[in-house]
Amino acid sequence: MSQDAQKKAAGWEALKYVEKDTIVGVGTGSTVNHFIDALGTMADQIKGAVSSSEASTERLKALGIEVFDMNSVSELSVYVDGADEVNHQMDMIKGGGAALTREKIVASIAKQFVCIADESKLVKTMGTFPLPIEVIPMSRAAVAREIVKMGGDPIYREGCITDNGCHILDVHSWKIDDAKALEQQLNNLVGVVTNGLFARRGADVLLLGSPEGVKTITK
Ligand code: A5P
Repeated sequence: MSQDAQKKAAGWEALKYVEKDTIVGVGTGSTVNHFIDALGTMADQIKGAVSSSEASTERLKALGIEVFDMNSVSELSVYVDGADEVNHQMDMIKGGGAALTREKIVASIAKQFVCIADESKLVKTMGTFPLPIEVIPMSRAAVAREIVKMGGDPIYREGCITDNGCHILDVHSWKIDDAKALEQQLNNLVGVVTNGLFARRGADVLLLGSPEGVKTITK
């Protein structure tokens, strides 16, 4: 079973977590694209979606799903999104697609975070995938110097401007043992908009595509 087939199976499985007549939180990425396609089959049964990126918004609208401004929504029953890495505590690294800030914002008002991924994303220790950090452009070099002091190796993702007009630093060479503490520490750096660690708000359910089918892992 190909990696994309595993992503697709996980994306379609997530439909089970969508309640009728609700507004659904929608993440970003190739796995979520499968979820959006699946959600299209329920377009007339849900109120709509809150989206975490321009790309997902476009795909949702093309399927006839109304996209709400998050300021008009107070709570979501579920947020469905992919991950670049997820560990057994359900902490995640996200932001490979540069949508981390809006993803964290939308996830923050969801009662349940359903992570959808292929099995290559499940790791014992996070950090092999470089940790994305969104920064205000003028602070890029200053934040990078602070990260070097913290033992990381930040690389500027050249040519990438986020939906918020910001830059991304990808931090290599970190083995992340205490994701919650590092998430907090990075948030405290002046100029950091968001970091790609989702530990304070990790996943509640992980739907992991595998050659044997989709495995459901809960906290
Ligand atoms: C987007 O910024 C990311 O957080 C994605 O959720 C993550 O990169 C997973 O992407 P894929 O589903 O494409 O692997």
